[in-house]
Parts: sequence; C-alpha cells; structure tokens
Amino acid sequence: MSYAPFDWIDDEARRRADAGLVRTLRPRAAETELLDLAGNDYLGLSRDPEVTAAAAAAARTWGAGATGSRLVTGSTELHAALERELAAFCGFEAALVFSSGYAANLAVLTALTGHDSLIVSDAGNHASIVDGCRLSRAATAVVPHADPEAVRKALRAHGGRALAVTDSVFSVDGDAAPLGVLAGVCREAGAPLVVDDAHGLGVLGEGGRGALAAAGLAGGEGIVATLTLSKSLGSQGGAVLGPARVVRHLVNTARTFIFDTGLAPAAVGGALGALRLLRREPERAARVRDVAVELHGRLVAAGLTAVRPDAAVVSVRAPSAESAVRWAADCCAAGLAVGCFRPPSVPDGISRLRLTARADLTQEQIATAVDTILATAPLPVG
Ligand SMILES: Cc1ncc(COP(=O)(O)O)c(C=O)c1O
Repeated sequence: MSYAPFDWIDDEARRRADAGLVRTLRPRAAETELLDLAGNDYLGLSRDPEVTAAAAAAARTWGAGATGSRLVTGSTELHAALERELAAFCGFEAALVFSSGYAANLAVLTALTGHDSLIVSDAGNHASIVDGCRLSRAATAVVPHADPEAVRKALRAHGGRALAVTDSVFSVDGDAAPLGVLAGVCREAGAPLVVDDAHGLGVLGEGGRGALAAAGLAGGEGIVATLTLSKSLGSQGGAVLGPARVVRHLVNTARTFIFDTGLAPAAVGGALGALRLLRREPERAARVRDVAVELHGRLVAAGLTAVRPDAAVVSVRAPSAESAVRWAADCCAAGLAVGCFRPPSVPDGISRLRLTARADLTQEQIATAVDTILATAPLPVG
C-alpha cells in the first residue's frame, strides 16, 4: 500500500472549494490606497504616532520580548501599570494581562470551573469562548442567542457551581447582549457572569469604558470581564478584569497565564499609550458609534438588510457564501476592504459582509464606502 497520510486533506480541500469556503491569506502592504472597513482598529489608534511611539519606546526599554512567563521573568513594571490603568479605567478592582483575548477567555472558563460545574453559554459567543468551554471540564449548556430566560432555566436546573458567559457585542451581527437582565439572572442563581467585552471596550460606555460600565455593572461582585487589546486599543494582547481575589486565583491556576510567555513589551506599551490617549480624547468612542449608525442607515435605506449596530460592527446580509466572497472581492477591487463572514464562522449559516466603523473615518470616506458597497451588491438595491 502506498504511503499517503495526508490524502484526506486534499479531499477536504476539494469539498471546501466546491462549497465556496476556501480561506486564503492576503498579506497587506504597509502603505495601501484601500479604504479599510475590515480591520478592528475602531478608534484609528493602531498607527497613531503617539501609540506607535509608546510601543517603540517600550521595546527599547524592556526588549523585543517579555523573556519569560509572567510568573518567572515576563512581568515588567509596564505590565503592572497597564493592569492598574485598565482596571481603573473600566471600573474594576483588578486586572490581569494575557498574551491574547483568546488566552484570557480560556483562562477564565477553565480556572473558574471544575468537572462538576456548568457553563451557560450564548449560542452566538465567540470561538474562544466555545473553546474555553471545551477545554474546561465543566458541562456546557449552549442557550439560544440573547435569551436570559433560557440562562435562568439552565442555571436553575443545575445544583452545583455554575457561571454564565456572553459576548457583550456579538462579532457576527454587531448586536449587544442584554447585560442588565443577565446580571440579575446570575445574581438570583448565585452565579458569576463572565462578559467578553472585546467589541465594547473603547466603543461603549462613557468615554469608551466598555459595555459593563455602560450597563452600570463594572466592578460588581459577580462580574468578570475579558478584553482584547487588539481592537479599540490598536495593539495586541488580552486582559481579565474583576474582583482582586478572582485575579489572584487566575495567577495561581490559569494555565494560559502560567504556561505562556508574557505579552511583549511593545504590545503592552502600545495598549497603555492608546488607553491614555483615549482618556484624553473620550469623544472617539461616541464618534465610532455614530459612524456605525450612519453606515447602517445609508445601506438599509438603499435596500440592503442589516441589523442595527449596537457598537462598531455593521453586518450586511449576503444571499450566499459565494456571493459574499465575490461581493467582498469586488469591493476590494474598487478600493474598499471589507470583511466577509460565512460558514463555519456564522452559526446560523447566513453569510454576511462585515463592516467595521472607525472613529477616524471622514464623511467623504463614509460616502465612498457606501457607494462602493451598493455598486457591487449582488442583489438589485434601491
Ligand atoms: C468577541 C471576541 N473575543 C475574543 C477575541 C480574541 O481576542 P484576541 O484576538 O486578542 O485573541 C476576539 C477577536 O479577536 C473577539 O472578537
């Protein structure tokens, strides 16, 4: 028999191609004419001179890498400053920085549960939450999207330790979770509420303090937030915010904290620079929300279907995966970079163009983006 250990990969690749689901990397140039509505740089901070200078200064001072895991040599005074300032800004007692938002979600979901626990998880939650549930030894109840009553029932049905977890703003449709009601349901059940505020930080709440601050829940006894530093803060990395005893517990037990090299100093410095800039320029948060609402309003008025955005993500429905890919490619050819969501990234199987508003878009750029999306739309619009 011939040795062909990876033939199954070719079979899978053919099936993916037949379904129009092939993913490819497109390395971007440093300078490009493309108008970017695809990235997550919501506040336009990733290339802000103050932020890049802070990142460069941190690399010069502390080195290109953190040199070790956080508990060995990978915690610098800069990491400690970012943790203090993030916690204070978002209104929590303590914070812990991770190498990514993905690692932060894995940490919380594995360290706050045991084999006898239950995790109640919204069906629309991000893949890193799904993976955190899988990696924990807890049972997971996946409940219908944005359905606090289903969360209540699942928590009631379980006698032992439990927690509920939700995105604050869902990546696919850009809609917000009913955090106030969910917090009430969790409090009633004596369970913590874990909220992934990846898309809320810098966008929601006063001056961008996040979805939990906006809901009046920041710093609450049973509230834990996870963050990424890679969207509004234009850098890289993640964080967990919560009561100090939860953070101390993560330091001692979370494997994605203990067995992972600390976040690189440049990323820490960049995130800290962005946070300080946002504190000085809080109007950026309101501007990105306004841009999202304007993009949505114009596209819907022209006949496209899109959910009203609660934060920066504007999601426009496409008739099929193939047409979504073609639509995004046509936009790109016309000078506009947009995201494209299709199965398996969309739990409901509906493909979408995913547009991200940015605080630094001009009115002219907004008009250009709308015109391009409409001119390339696969459906008759208007
Ligand atoms: C909702 C959500 N949670 C977590 C993450 C992961 O964060 P990171 O990219 O920092 O790993 C992302 C996206 O990147 C996200 O959209």
